[in-house]
Amino acid sequence: MTQRYGIIGWPLGHTLSPTLHNSGFKTLGIDAEYVAWPLEPLGLSDFMARFRDEEIQGLSVTIPHKRSVMKYLDEMTFRAKSVGAVNTVFWKDDLVWGENTDVNGLIDPLAKMRNVPKTALVLGAGGAARAAVVGLQELEVGEIIVCNRTRSKAEILGHDFNVRVVDWEKRHELAPGLILNTTPLGMSGELETLSPWEADFPRGCVVYDIVYNPLRTRLLAEAREKGCEIIEGIEMFLHQGLAQFRLWTGREYDAQAARRVLLEALS
Ligand code: ATR
Repeated sequence: MTQRYGIIGWPLGHTLSPTLHNSGFKTLGIDAEYVAWPLEPLGLSDFMARFRDEEIQGLSVTIPHKRSVMKYLDEMTFRAKSVGAVNTVFWKDDLVWGENTDVNGLIDPLAKMRNVPKTALVLGAGGAARAAVVGLQELEVGEIIVCNRTRSKAEILGHDFNVRVVDWEKRHELAPGLILNTTPLGMSGELETLSPWEADFPRGCVVYDIVYNPLRTRLLAEAREKGCEIIEGIEMFLHQGLAQFRLWTGREYDAQAARRVLLEALS
């Protein structure tokens, strides 16, 4: 029987997840399909009952369900508990589990580097920033600083994860080895001409933007021009998806092949 997977979110809009997973199923000869399920918040309870009854094999979970889905699960991984949000639902030993592969998305591209940065500045304090801090701590990045437009939100992260908080206005005084943008600044639309970093880049700094539309944000274009190593947001999307694929199927979808499919879809 064809296995069923999908993504729930509201409003769901355009998502690259079906492209990624369906191309993986096809490439690896897995009899499965992945669909988009736009789901209003009020429909979550019924949907999760359906998930169990109809034996849907796995789910990607996006805004606004990442926290609310937790009460419909039997178990959560350590990472999902640490972040306090779930982006992946999977079955294990007849139990429904929640995982947060945004952490993989954020750190797998960094973990591959010859020299993982020793200090990191996380810009933003939303869900992605929380996943970033959990991941950076797993990578044993020595100093992590969080900076957010609304300081009180950064302070919650500072408190939860024991990391330093610096005022948004003072961010340019810092000289981190990694600048990681988790804000929407630079995203296509009215924020596209903006950048979360308006000063010179510290020497040898790696710049990572999780915005992937456009692929080369203003932040990344400027960082590249100054000779910084950059990581594009598509890497975050790719690696969170590959980690989901691995959890659901136990198989490895080649990152290079998957990246090619995503870049083609984006162009
Ligand atoms: P996600 O789950 O993707 O992290 P989010 O929870 O909405 O999304 O968080 C978005 C982050 O981007 C927030 O930290 C937000 O700052 P505020 O806490 O002040 O709202 C930040 N952000 C959004 N728009 C911004 C802007 N124009 N300038 C600076 N930061 C911005």
